[in-house]
Amino acid sequence: MIKNHTGQTNSARRDIASTIHPYTNLKLHEAEGPLVIAEGDGVFVRGEDGKMYLEGLAGLWCVSLGFSERRLADAAYRQLLKLPFYHNFAHKATEIGIELAEKLLSIAPVPMSKVFFVNSGSEANDTAVKLVWYYNNAIGRARKKKIISRTKAYHGVTVASASLTGLANNHRDFDLPIANILHVECPHFYRFSLSGETEEAFASRMADSLEQRILSEDPNTVAALIAEPIMGAGGVILPPATYWEKIQRVLRQYDVLLIADEVICGFGRVGEVWGSSVYGLKPDMLTCAKALSSGYIPIGAVMLSEAIYDVLVRQSEKIGVFSHGFTYGGHPVSAAVALETLRIYEEDDTLSHVRRMAPLMQAGLQRFADHPLVGEIRGIGLIGAVELVADKAAKAPFDPVSAVGPFLAKRAHHHGLIVRAVGDSIAFCPPLIINETELNLMFERFRLALDDTFGMVRERGLVESALVPAAAN
Ligand SMILES: Cc1ncc(COP(=O)(O)O)c(C=O)c1O
Repeated sequence: MIKNHTGQTNSARRDIASTIHPYTNLKLHEAEGPLVIAEGDGVFVRGEDGKMYLEGLAGLWCVSLGFSERRLADAAYRQLLKLPFYHNFAHKATEIGIELAEKLLSIAPVPMSKVFFVNSGSEANDTAVKLVWYYNNAIGRARKKKIISRTKAYHGVTVASASLTGLANNHRDFDLPIANILHVECPHFYRFSLSGETEEAFASRMADSLEQRILSEDPNTVAALIAEPIMGAGGVILPPATYWEKIQRVLRQYDVLLIADEVICGFGRVGEVWGSSVYGLKPDMLTCAKALSSGYIPIGAVMLSEAIYDVLVRQSEKIGVFSHGFTYGGHPVSAAVALETLRIYEEDDTLSHVRRMAPLMQAGLQRFADHPLVGEIRGIGLIGAVELVADKAAKAPFDPVSAVGPFLAKRAHHHGLIVRAVGDSIAFCPPLIINETELNLMFERFRLALDDTFGMVRERGLVESALVPAAAN
């Protein structure tokens, strides 16, 4: 492959000249350029330099069936030949869209009435917010509009969904969040529990604090809580024991709707089809995307309860139209790929495979628990994270300026593994089809990157002094 004097390939130079990259330091990108991915094979992707990377994050938490599932390509091709576009506006429908909606309703974690198709997780959550507002206006609760989210939640990047996202950089200088979006505490037991507090007591404190917030805002102004059953992009944060039952008790008491964001959890990631099933969530609305099509094609969906649907029907009759919808919502090619994805999950019994691999994945992660850099290991099913700390005993994080997590992710790339650094938490979310050998390879490569990182932080004196060899002190 031809490289110029900066070591950049031709395609890297063209990328720098032409493309803005999401979630990227744009200045650094101008100097370093992209890793250009050329093709995929199972749980691996190949860089244009020929190097094979194990994709430890399934792309962006989505490529559940790996990067070479022929059936999905065939399903798209067949549908492209048959009917490449149609929409759902103004009483139009497609057979494939109807079939997908029926399938989703049949596997919903709680009885759901209808499906509204969108193209992404962000659009799904934006739609959910709009539906909550429309619903409360329709039933004469014009003040009940506030949506509660949580610090470290990830719900997307459109104006409303970025407002729901509880990460500072998603708001900073974007003039977000918009009005009527609130954030309550992140239920991360390791980080935010008090000394001696049990998980149950911590969960009670989180629920009490939610209740206090609803009361201080005025329950007549609080419409809904949106939440991922387990928080993904904020660092793979699992709810503490009893959290969801306590939170839902508060929501019921103050007539606050629950929107479950299943964009990462949905379709088997956590060892059940839905995160809601694992933790007993009873959502009024559910949003999903990503593994709905194994990430092969953009599609998302919002499912909603009969009670909400009934109100939408009445209100649209009153106004004359339900004025919401995306050109590509329910696109037949996306629907065909999604339907084929759901068929493969069933025919291959992907869920049973996940349940067989999950203990290996979680045990593999736990093997790093004793490492001096590791503060917490967390995970469930085929998702997990390793949180790096400067001082294990004190749980002291590194100064974010040191960018220890990103350093590890870069070393992982060097060793042929793609993982994501969420600050100093390293997230793992491999394709659901990963096998035992590949899991072992993922952890072998991670260990190399972790050891490299340990070397770097000791050299730079970033860890507690006991870990730094005498000569370096
Ligand atoms: C839980 C959750 N919700 C919503 C989104 C946003 O989805 P998209 O990037 O498809 O808009 C994501 C993306 O990572 C997510 O993890």
